[in-house]
Amino acid sequence: MTKAPDIRTTPPGPKAKEIVERDSKFVATTTKTSPIVAKRARGSIVEDVDGNVYVDFTCGIGVTNVGHCHPEVVDAIKKQSSELIHFAGTDFYYEIQVDLAEKLCKITPGDSPKKVFYTNSGTEGTEASIKIVKWNTQKPLIIGFIRAFHGRTMGSLAITASKPVHRARFAPMMPGVVHIPFAYCYRCSYKMEFPDCGLHCAKILEELYFEAHVPPEDVAAIFIEPVQGEGGYVVPPKGWIDEIASIARRHEILLVDDEVQAGFGRTGKMFGIEHSNTVPDILYTAKGIASGMPMGAVILDEKLDFGVQGAHSNTFGGNLVACAAALKTIELIEREGMLDNANRMGKVLKDRLDEMAGTYPIMGDNRGLGLMWATEFVKDRATKEFAVKERNEIVKLAYERGLILLPAGKSAIRYIPALNITEEELNSGLDVLESCIKDAS
Ligand SMILES: Cc1ncc(COP(=O)(O)O)c(C=O)c1O
Repeated sequence: MTKAPDIRTTPPGPKAKEIVERDSKFVATTTKTSPIVAKRARGSIVEDVDGNVYVDFTCGIGVTNVGHCHPEVVDAIKKQSSELIHFAGTDFYYEIQVDLAEKLCKITPGDSPKKVFYTNSGTEGTEASIKIVKWNTQKPLIIGFIRAFHGRTMGSLAITASKPVHRARFAPMMPGVVHIPFAYCYRCSYKMEFPDCGLHCAKILEELYFEAHVPPEDVAAIFIEPVQGEGGYVVPPKGWIDEIASIARRHEILLVDDEVQAGFGRTGKMFGIEHSNTVPDILYTAKGIASGMPMGAVILDEKLDFGVQGAHSNTFGGNLVACAAALKTIELIEREGMLDNANRMGKVLKDRLDEMAGTYPIMGDNRGLGLMWATEFVKDRATKEFAVKERNEIVKLAYERGLILLPAGKSAIRYIPALNITEEELNSGLDVLESCIKDAS
């Protein structure tokens, strides 16, 4: 798998077609984007069942941040699984989950003592965080943001507000969630411009919502994504998170930071919130934490621990093999300077996207941090009409030409390659991207 991309049969090839058909018969409907049927992968390169080779700009939706099947992660998984796979770390004890918890408490922002609750996914992190804030404050309300995505289980779904399809037919939601507009400067809900707006969209929480509609003393927590992910890779302007945090502090409201997508080095810092000066009360992560082993972790201020046996728990949390993969993932990010690489490659990516935007007017807005980037496609730069059909066409053309992409938001494409992608791999993916944008324009 050295030459990439290398497309031998336009995907889906014959073997892929057969598997896609069987999948549609036996596997329930989810969110399938492209008929790429993977067989093996290494780093940023994926081979499908028909021998096609792709450059991967998706990392399994932001999961394989240190590259697919990093040999040291594979070894750590092999070693741990030959010793002990599962022993229910919620009910019994083993050392590796303590090792990982200690490490997570050390690498997350804030110096005060913290504790870790292990989950198996991002949405389970949201659910656990909801329970933690309710348990501690016994207050009924939560503030969330329009276009936020925190997962699809029923508690998370009440805070998720990125697309109507996520919520249709599932009402009523968990009561008590109030949504306010996020700092989406490209399409400001208040038709203002940063910095002249003075962070109006943050200040309005206190100046209007708390004045007219939401009793602040009833609010348990504010849930934020430091960069909105599924909602379209929306990066809030400088100062916005700190403004929200200071409103939260003034009203004794807990701040919960969802790092499921922006965490684990994706934004060029270990956690997205480190681009601000804010230390959240609760930070939770999943996706990239264990390089593909299903795992998540909620890191909470020690004072917020339940402290009562049975108030919250699970079966698989802190699974030994997932812990081994997570410890190795963190070690690799630190030891191999992957944050530096993410920032260097992020600059290459940004420059190239900006250069393309000079030629292709359907590229309405390029935005991102580190290696968490997206382009929002528009039919017309003046009206900003969403170019949904064109975006979908680019994603399709790209996989046919050997680049794996994922959409985000209404008409954006996200670029989330591995943090250790090489410049050569990045540029070969960008060459394909440019040819697809050209043809779809
Ligand atoms: C910010 C954020 N939170 C929560 C979730 C839910 O994670 P999961 O799909 O692992 O349940 C996602 C998934 O995309 C996410 O991006």
